[in-house]
Amino acid sequence: MVLRFVHLSDIHFGQGSAVKRAIDTDVRKALLRDCQESAERFGKADSLLITGDIAYSGTKPEYVEAANWLDRLCEACGCLRANVQMVPGNHDVNWSHVDATARILRSNIRGSARPEEAHETLAEVCIGVEGFGECALTRPLLDYANFAEQYGTPPDSDAKPFWTKKLSLGHDVAARVYGLTTSLVSDNQDKKVPVPQWLGASQMTALGSSESEIAIALMHHPLKCFGDEALIAPYIRRRVTLLLTGHEHLPEIATCVDHATGHSRLEVTAGAVTPEEDGRGYVFTYNWLELSLIADKERQGLKVELWPRVWQAGAETFEADAIRLQGRESVVAELACPSLRLAEQGRTPLEGSPVVDDAAAPTDQDAMTWNEQEYGELRLLFWRAEWQERLRILVELKLFPAGTAGPLPQVMERRALDQVAQAGRLAELGRALHPSNPESPNPFVGQGEVKNGD
Ligand SMILES: [Fe+2]
Repeated sequence: MVLRFVHLSDIHFGQGSAVKRAIDTDVRKALLRDCQESAERFGKADSLLITGDIAYSGTKPEYVEAANWLDRLCEACGCLRANVQMVPGNHDVNWSHVDATARILRSNIRGSARPEEAHETLAEVCIGVEGFGECALTRPLLDYANFAEQYGTPPDSDAKPFWTKKLSLGHDVAARVYGLTTSLVSDNQDKKVPVPQWLGASQMTALGSSESEIAIALMHHPLKCFGDEALIAPYIRRRVTLLLTGHEHLPEIATCVDHATGHSRLEVTAGAVTPEEDGRGYVFTYNWLELSLIADKERQGLKVELWPRVWQAGAETFEADAIRLQGRESVVAELACPSLRLAEQGRTPLEGSPVVDDAAAPTDQDAMTWNEQEYGELRLLFWRAEWQERLRILVELKLFPAGTAGPLPQVMERRALDQVAQAGRLAELGRALHPSNPESPNPFVGQGEVKNGD
């Protein structure tokens, strides 16, 4: 069983001068063609993984442009358009929503003498907040969070600003993907003066370890960017087998082995699809990658094959990054996971290994499987509607009484929509989304009930 992904980062919709936008448009068109060729050669992609900076200023119009392009990219690589997983970057922060309280909090956290102090401040600001975007630090990420709702990967809440999903690798083993929010204290000066980011304890401890899972983390900022690096980096590195990041506009690949445990990991910085104008010239990059389980008797782990792609300005195409890979087209990493137990081996609790706390996961999103594609498509259509239309649908489905005032908090809408899916009411949701043409064939009618009834 092979999982195929397109790893993209730093797309920066909305950036730059007219000339730069024209260049970026050409590059993104070429990326569509390149992904289509990869899908024809290797097979359809299962998902797009985007490690932040989707927008340039974190505004709604930029996300509308991003959604249109992502639709075309999904079509090009054969991926369902709802199967896009993403995390925010510093350019996904909408600076017009940064208020005086946010500025004070940011400087207070960044000025903390010890990482623990900053973690305490982050926890106090966000403690017990069930929605996302309710505190000063997360409010500037609300347009991003609304966009990410389309794809089922919004930061869950201010208290737990991350998401997690499980993808089957076969042999009763899952890849658990963690999407972390690293831009909570991002600043509009981030690119001019390197300033530390802070992850916070709630996200650090979200990463569990399990004998039936391989952990993959998506983060915008690489670990070296964090003020709490000394605290969080060893913790994350012990648990993660594949770490995908962005932010740095030059791509990097590194494999590391923990000689004490035998656990190995791969850290990949994607580079930028369309970097900013910073006077250093442009290097446009992205990665195609494939994951499969290593399930020999002697060894268990994750095989990752990575095809780094780089823009060739003369030919106006993406090609293999042969210079960086010294003539090769791809790099293969076989990552040992000594704590993994395959189903036929039987599983026993690992001594000294932290217990996986599924309650720590923000929602039931970890139950997401690829056969929930109908729900994914309907969720995408639902969140692309304006709030008035969404409220009409939720009232029509009797999830809220007539006369309910809106807009509703995002978390309430998400929970209501999840209730619809869990109750097997996808056909009703499909009809509610297309009230103007009830005669048109609805591909979801009946399928939701059948699937959920299985
Ligand atoms: Fe960035």
